[in-house]
Amino acid sequence: MKGLSAVSSRRKSGVPRLLWTLLGACLVATVIGYKPVVIVHGLFDSSGVFVELLRFINQSHPGTNVSVIDLFDHSSSLQPLWKQVEGFKEAIYPIMQNAADGVHFICYSQGVCVCVCVCVCVCVCVCVCARARVRLCVMLNLFFLTQLYIHPCSVTGGLICRGILSTLPNHNVHSFISLSSPQAGQYGDTDYLKYLFPQFMKSNLFHFCYTGVGQRISICNYWKDPHHTDMYVNGSDYLALLNSERPNPNSTVWKKNFLRIKKLVLIGGPDDGVITPWQSSQFGFYNDNETVVEIKDQDLYLRDVFGLKTLNARGDLFLCSMAGVEHVKWHSNDTVFNTCIKKWLV
Ligand SMILES: *[C@@H]1O[C@H](CO)[C@@H](O)[C@H](O)[C@H]1NC(C)=O
Ligand SMILES: *[C@@H]1O[C@H](CO)[C@@H](O)[C@H](O)[C@H]1NC(C)=O
Ligand SMILES: *[C@@H]1O[C@H](CO)[C@@H](O)[C@H](O)[C@H]1NC(C)=O
Ligand SMILES: *[C@@H]1O[C@H](CO)[C@@H](O)[C@H](O)[C@H]1NC(C)=O
Ligand SMILES: *[C@@H]1O[C@H](CO)[C@@H](O)[C@H](O)[C@H]1NC(C)=O
Ligand SMILES: *[C@@H]1O[C@H](CO)[C@@H](O)[C@H](O)[C@H]1NC(C)=O
Repeated sequence: MKGLSAVSSRRKSGVPRLLWTLLGACLVATVIGYKPVVIVHGLFDSSGVFVELLRFINQSHPGTNVSVIDLFDHSSSLQPLWKQVEGFKEAIYPIMQNAADGVHFICYSQGVCVCVCVCVCVCVCVCVCARARVRLCVMLNLFFLTQLYIHPCSVTGGLICRGILSTLPNHNVHSFISLSSPQAGQYGDTDYLKYLFPQFMKSNLFHFCYTGVGQRISICNYWKDPHHTDMYVNGSDYLALLNSERPNPNSTVWKKNFLRIKKLVLIGGPDDGVITPWQSSQFGFYNDNETVVEIKDQDLYLRDVFGLKTLNARGDLFLCSMAGVEHVKWHSNDTVFNTCIKKWLV
């Protein structure tokens, strides 16, 4: 079967194939329309920031109903991720119910804000973001006790989406497009501040993060210290559970739910500057000597704990890497849209 379809698709190359594709696209568009798109993100402010993305979608898939769901309208970045997942489910479920043919998810996470922070091990910051909303957020930076600086505050959009897809038994998400999100965890600071980021803080944060108190803060929910994997597995109440790195009675059900998606598209790149290592956006992560191990060699892939290997065997797992894109630019770059996103929005 596999060999056959490979041969036939090779034969249908060039112009005829293009025609078929165009014809197919027209038919799909006129007969059933495009599926609604839900953009889930962690920006401090939503609508204005996504002007470009909305324009790209309107141009390539006219008439698509796009809903932008703002994380901060539904919960605070301080809250543990499971709580945020619940808030999002409430907002998104009605959209799914309205869409008989299913919806697409584009999940993203970043806003740039100006923050004043007080740091004792973890920073508590007051941030002013686009459209002058003032928010509280927690970050991992800074040598100085207080400082004014520019920083993206939350990197959780893609992880929230996975939480939704794993725990919502009857979701109808077709394409799950994860735009530069730390799917395998985060270990390290952003490029913006690397020059003053104290190594000791990165390597000591596990003391705080893997405690009950630490887990009440969202960033600790996906902080993954490769030198203390056993503590991460025992202590991380979100990512380690979602990745089934910690055995969990719900794993089987979650995997089944997650596998209802039709396509998984993982977008990221080496110049991201926020996701560390950047390969985490595609389930790669550091081993204990901080060498990056790619998705295909990751234990969670090889054991197929939540379905990645199954998706790949189905031909439904796509990695899209692009150099030269900073973290805050993923959603507004037309090359990224045309190369990595467009074809999955039918
Ligand atoms: C989509 O594009 C059309 C034609 O350019 C325009 O009239 C319409 O206002 C746009 N819709 C949105 C939601 O941007
Ligand atoms: C778009 O989707 C939302 C949520 O399902 C719905 O309330 C709204 O009526 C839709 N808009 C159009 C123009 O279909
Ligand atoms: C595992 O985590 C629990 C709850 O956070 C804690 O009470 C326990 O001491 C931890 N066990 C180990 C071996 O770290
Ligand atoms: C498993 O799912 C049930 C029902 O959704 C939930 O109440 C429970 O907290 C979940 N268990 C874990 C370990 O997440
Ligand atoms: C780190 O680990 C990789 C894979 O296990 C190995 O190939 C490499 O030699 C190690 N590097 C160091 C510096 O130990
Ligand atoms: C989008 O990203 C590509 C690839 O890095 C880059 O060449 C291009 O200049 C970017 N476009 C814009 C508008 O920033």
